[in-house]
Amino acid sequence: MSHGWSAKEHKNSNAPAGQGTGHKRARNDGGNKVTVVLGAQWGDEGKGKVVDLLATEADIVCRCQGGNNAGHTVVVDGKEYDFHLLPSGIINTKSISLIGNGVVIHLPGLFEECEKNEKKGLKGWEKRLIVSDRAHIVFDFHQVVDGLQETERQAQEGKNIGTTKKGIGPAYSSKASRTGLRVCDLLGDFKDFSTKFKNLVHQYQAMYPSLEVEVEDQLKKLKEYAERLRPMVRDGVYYMYEALHGSPKKILVEGANAALLDIDFGTYPFVTSSNCTVGGACTGLGIPPLNVGDVFGVAKAYTTRVGIGAFPTEQLNATGELLQTRGHEVGVTTGRKRRCGWLDLVIVRYAHMINGFTAIAMTKLDILDVLDEIKVGVAYKLNGKRIPHFPANMDVLQKVEVEYETFPGWKTDTSAARKWNDLPAKAQNYIRFIENHIGVPIKWVGVGKSRECMIQMF
Ligand code: GDP
Ligand code: IMO
Ligand code: MG
Repeated sequence: MSHGWSAKEHKNSNAPAGQGTGHKRARNDGGNKVTVVLGAQWGDEGKGKVVDLLATEADIVCRCQGGNNAGHTVVVDGKEYDFHLLPSGIINTKSISLIGNGVVIHLPGLFEECEKNEKKGLKGWEKRLIVSDRAHIVFDFHQVVDGLQETERQAQEGKNIGTTKKGIGPAYSSKASRTGLRVCDLLGDFKDFSTKFKNLVHQYQAMYPSLEVEVEDQLKKLKEYAERLRPMVRDGVYYMYEALHGSPKKILVEGANAALLDIDFGTYPFVTSSNCTVGGACTGLGIPPLNVGDVFGVAKAYTTRVGIGAFPTEQLNATGELLQTRGHEVGVTTGRKRRCGWLDLVIVRYAHMINGFTAIAMTKLDILDVLDEIKVGVAYKLNGKRIPHFPANMDVLQKVEVEYETFPGWKTDTSAARKWNDLPAKAQNYIRFIENHIGVPIKWVGVGKSRECMIQMF
């Protein structure tokens, strides 16, 4: 069985030919479709693992948003790789990895990541990596500013966001305020770039007087990075256009972060600064919505969250601790313990409203193996009444009462299961309930870290 690529979906058959209009219109045969993998909770659902599985057959694997705030773990042949900016498909020596215009790139971080993975055995990445010339650059000072902003939030409001301090918010702010610098600026006239860089530094120093930047030293390093990067840089839009309209190709988009961290739809302000939902695939790569095919949502069999913010099904008790330790719930990027709780189907359904998932990958079922009973959040109540929507206001979200369904635990080791029938009936019931409640088929069930620990249902 193919790893979830459907041949039918793979080529776009939507072909409006202008029939019945009385005049001939140009034919749009649509081209190839991309398969998008997105986080359906607060991140760390196992997107890297799902992408790795699909990437074994992919021609191109793209990142479209976020930066090195993402941490995606892939385990192949007992070796564990962590990816932050590199698409997880970089392991596949037959596929191209593309970092799209919607991503914000910290160049020292990118090369460090490449070198670290090279030591683990990753070979030839420089020939397989393509970087969009429209991607914005995260400078070292953006990362310092990220830290300063967190300190300021703590002082002003008594709490911060708990960012990864990778400079993501400040870099996207520079982009939105139209003072950001892109890869194409770095590779253009360096004198021009230097002037713009200095202006940007001055702007930030005006806002944060304590910010110290060794401008000449930074420019020297950036010039070196520019030359290392140059062979990999392309016009991302044209590259994708050719990929979509050339010979049939399997193109995968790897979402970073997740729906509930989305700048528009997440638990604002405790979110990241990009669109981690399906629209981000189009804007972050420059591809038409018509070319979006399957959209796979990834959700854990329970819920985790890193950083601050409302988390209605959080378990600040022995269950939460058990999920944290059994699930090794420690952030890949920051090393922070992840907060843990029961599966919250209200948020997964909300993620589905926005993304229109065609199927779900449910990971980490094996972590629940030892529990006597398992709860699933199915609705939120306010003042005793069920609410049909997901609250925008965080004060309201903090107040919701979660309605749970309770399931008996299966108390059986599922880690060796490789097909549906290998799973205990109680685990099958749990999965079927989730599928019916969200209204989206579950295509994969994860029972372990490595590539083969993924049960494919259809
Ligand atoms: P991502 O950010 O969505 O790619 O997820 P992370 O890599 O940050 O976190 C997911 C963690 O769970 C990683 O350590 C994975 O190796 C691990 N993982 C993924 N799927 C499974 C699974 O089905 N079972 C178990 N036990 N671990 C899993
Ligand atoms: P992956 O791709 C989990 C969280 C941070 C913080 C908030 C804002 O591995 O699923 P930022 O540095 O982006 O400004 O931080 O968002 N966050 C993530 N949490 N997984 C991620 O990515 C995350 N990316 C950002 O913890 O609460
Ligand atoms: Mg992660």
